Amino acid sequence: QRIPEVEALLQKMTIEEKIGQLNLLTPGGGVATGEVVSKNVEAKIKAGEVGGLFGVAGPDKVRVAQELAVKESRLGIPLLIGSDVIHGYKTTYPIPLGLSASWDMDLVKQAAQMAAREATADGINWNFSPMVDIARDPRWGRIAETGGEDPYLGSKIAEAMVKGYQGDDLASAHTMLACVKHFALYGAAEAGRDYHSVDMSKIKMFNQYLPPYKAAVDAGAASVMTSFNDVDGVPATGNKWLLTDLLRDRWGFDGFVVSDYTSLNEMIAHGLGDLQAVSALALKAGLDMDMVGEGFLTTLKKSLDEGKVTEEEITNACRRVLEAKYISGLFEDPYRYLDSKRPETDILTAENRALARKLAARSFVLLKNENQLLPLQKNKKIALIGPLADSRNNMLGTWAPTGDVSLAVTIQEGFKNVAPNATIQYAKGANISDDAEFAKKVNVFGPRIEIDKRSPKTLLKEAVDLAKNSEVVVAVVGEATEMSGEAASRTDISIPDSQKKLIKALVETGKPVALVLMSGRPLTIPEEFELPAAILQVWHPGVEAGNAIADVIFGDYNPSGKLTATWPRSVGQIPIYHSVKNTGRPAPENDEFQKFRSNYLDSPNSPLLPFGYGLSYTKFAYSNLKLDKSSIGQGESISATVTVANTGNYDGEEVVQLYLRDVVRSITPPKRELKGFQKVFLKKGEKKEITITLSPDDLKFYNSQLDFVAESGDFEVFVGTNSDAELSKTFTLK
Ligand code: IFM
Repeated sequence: QRIPEVEALLQKMTIEEKIGQLNLLTPGGGVATGEVVSKNVEAKIKAGEVGGLFGVAGPDKVRVAQELAVKESRLGIPLLIGSDVIHGYKTTYPIPLGLSASWDMDLVKQAAQMAAREATADGINWNFSPMVDIARDPRWGRIAETGGEDPYLGSKIAEAMVKGYQGDDLASAHTMLACVKHFALYGAAEAGRDYHSVDMSKIKMFNQYLPPYKAAVDAGAASVMTSFNDVDGVPATGNKWLLTDLLRDRWGFDGFVVSDYTSLNEMIAHGLGDLQAVSALALKAGLDMDMVGEGFLTTLKKSLDEGKVTEEEITNACRRVLEAKYISGLFEDPYRYLDSKRPETDILTAENRALARKLAARSFVLLKNENQLLPLQKNKKIALIGPLADSRNNMLGTWAPTGDVSLAVTIQEGFKNVAPNATIQYAKGANISDDAEFAKKVNVFGPRIEIDKRSPKTLLKEAVDLAKNSEVVVAVVGEATEMSGEAASRTDISIPDSQKKLIKALVETGKPVALVLMSGRPLTIPEEFELPAAILQVWHPGVEAGNAIADVIFGDYNPSGKLTATWPRSVGQIPIYHSVKNTGRPAPENDEFQKFRSNYLDSPNSPLLPFGYGLSYTKFAYSNLKLDKSSIGQGESISATVTVANTGNYDGEEVVQLYLRDVVRSITPPKRELKGFQKVFLKKGEKKEITITLSPDDLKFYNSQLDFVAESGDFEVFVGTNSDAELSKTFTLK
């Protein structure tokens, strides 16, 4: 439905002014993630050649830009003001992979709402988030920014984030436009190398990779960002099948599409022609706004004159950008996000920091806890060791350009805050990595890997001596912040050697060792997994890192996170994910090698840690799985009920997970797929019946014709604590 105010404005616009609205620039105040940086931004705004800006923040600064557009351009059209608010604006919360491990959609939504409150207080009205790319290759650094490997969970997260950012009213001064990215399949880059090619069957695309984007669109996302990669041989930014046939015609998306940073220009390097050709191709494909590269600005008029694009195509793109401004309330009041008092009252408040601490604690995953080493009592003599134990610079995680590292709580500080009566002594023990060349590449945004002046031997000795003198060792090891994230792919995803040596030496002291493992991705830790008594995976937790880690280590919060991406034993197993297919020659269930079966000579097929895995300080027992029907008809729902009992010594939360296997169907089914989950709180000794209902859509898949169908036959339901859930029941779809 057309918006009369927008239509009236379009009538007044010259072709140059329409093209101007398709141009998104950055004056350089944020992170430039490409080689091109926008020039003469002020003059271009005045000339009506800019539709939006990013990398400018703060009500007063944004006001200057907005006034240039409103008061000094001919038609006074306000600007969209974008930003990458990926995991919190100034109150940084855990990296998205960590947040997803909470499996708590209410909290995910609250996190997005907080991010929106803070960002809009600083003048932002458009957020380049959520990133909903499915990631099954932990070599890819940007897995840190995703919700992991699963399309069902990914869809729920996508929906919660869009609703959190956008709220019910986009014209409110506390909500911002969401931008779903990176459309599409960015997470499936070959060999886990960033920006690499993607080649995928439509069946896999529709069933495994597209659902979260669709869920975000269904939730009302106002914009979509294209990805850097190609899809079926055509770069996403110029892919008509993707941007028009699928996104608009099939899914009914009516917002606007923006390119990624110079991804339009990069179509030249992809091999699709010169700037004029790729710009025309992208416009015709359905791209509405060009980020930074100015391909639209500098070539579309020429293409129009030469008959290569039509005025209608330019008008359509312009209309979509203007409609977004209209629904943001910018035409009514271009300054509605520019209240200079709000940063003081809305940003980094005690309430926001408390939420960040809560989110962080809920994102941690207890990987191991022998002899109930954790939680620690608050009066112990603790050796707190490791290059990340007192490192402020590595707490926020990747893509937190609006956060302030200096505000992050270190783990040493957190321990002292939460356990003031404990004796806490710190030693670095090792560098994050001893490789100076590697450190240089990681340190692009600041010192993340700091190579100590003391020799590795001296560092190690100091730590071992300290460990010997303590009751318990807490070793904080893993990846520096920028070892994951954009353009931070690794071929070796193990813990760097310097820290492996440290872990081994600490364990050899004979003292009980709890490892706090920090990373932006699943790591390969087959040997380190065996060594310490306990391992708590904490991702990069955000501004409240130290406090949240201490909350869990000392038992103020009982960990409840579950992995959302499978942890491989080795890089050789990648890609690895729980919803694999059976193959015609499945390997034996017990993981033993069998010739002429689908397995490896040198590794089991099973991962080190499966999807959905995570322990608690307490124990949960599952029993009595029941279905409310043994057979259903098309369009009917079915419910599974299971009894979950807290049989351990602590109150705690558990994520009850339901997996489904479509036993026979027209295209090969995955062995099992996540189709439901519920996070429940159980007091010590408490027992609850948990019911998870499968909707008719949960039984559907995209068949060879790409129709979304449920085929009659048997389905097997599995319910349990992770993707290896053993309780099962079968029903029939008639
Ligand atoms: O939003 C980001 C995107 O995820 C990667 N390239 C740059 C964009 C804008 O900063």
